[in-house]
Amino acid sequence: MITATLERPQLSARLKLETNAQHERMHQLMEYGAPFSSPEAYTRFVAAQYLFQRDIEHLFKNAAVQKAVSDLHVRGRLEASLADLKDLGAEVPQDRLASADVAMPEALGWLYVSEGSTLGAAFLFKEAQASLGFSAAFGARNLAAYPEGRATVWRRFVAALDNDAIGNEQHDAIIAGANAAYDRFGELLTRYFGQA
Ligand code: HEM
Repeated sequence: MITATLERPQLSARLKLETNAQHERMHQLMEYGAPFSSPEAYTRFVAAQYLFQRDIEHLFKNAAVQKAVSDLHVRGRLEASLADLKDLGAEVPQDRLASADVAMPEALGWLYVSEGSTLGAAFLFKEAQASLGFSAAFGARNLAAYPEGRATVWRRFVAALDNDAIGNEQHDAIIAGANAAYDRFGELLTRYFGQA
C-alpha cells in the first residue's frame, strides 16, 4: 500500500511540497513589507489582498469550478477586503484581472493558494488585532476566519482536491495554476511593498 501511495501521491500533498518555495517567498515579502508596522503599510497589504481576491472570485463564476468545489458560497474574501479598504479610508485599486484566461483544472491551483492562505491568516489576524487594533468587524475582516472555522473549511477544500473526480493527469496543471497564483500575489506584494 505504501508503494501505491508513493506512485500516486495525493494532489494536496504534491501542492504543499511542490509550492513550498513559493510559500517561503510570501513570508519574505511579508517580512519586508512589515504590514503591521503602521496603518499605511497594512492598507497596502489590503490593496494587494483585494486585487488577488478579485482574481480568485472571478473563477467562482466558472461552472466547472463550481462543480469541482461545491461550497464556493462560503469561500472568498473579496467583499471583506473591499469593506476593509472602506474602513481604512483607502481608494479601491484598479488593475487588470489576472485570472481572466484561467480555466479548469489550473483554476483549482489558484483556489488552493487563496484557501491555504486562510491558515496563515490566523497569525496575521492576531497581529492586526494586537498591533493595529483592527478586528473582524473593522479593518481586518479579510484576515478573519470563515464562520465555520478555518480548519473545517480547509479540510473540506482538501477533500475536494483529493477526489477521484480529479484525474492524476490533471495534477501537473493544477500545480502550475498554484504557481501562477503565487506569482500573482508575489507581483502584487512587490508592487505594494517593494522588492524584498
Ligand atoms: C507572513 C505571512 C504568512 C504566514 C505566517 C503563513 C503561515 C502559514 C502556516 C503556519 C500555514 C500552515 C497552517 C497549517 O498547516 O495548519 C500556512 C499554510 C498555507 N499558506 Fe501561508 N502564511 C503566510 C502567507 C501566505 C500567503 C501570502 C499565501 C498566499 C497568497 C499563503 C498560502 C498558504 C497556503 C496555500 C497554505 C497551505 C499549505 C498546505 O498545507 O498545502 N500563505 N501558512
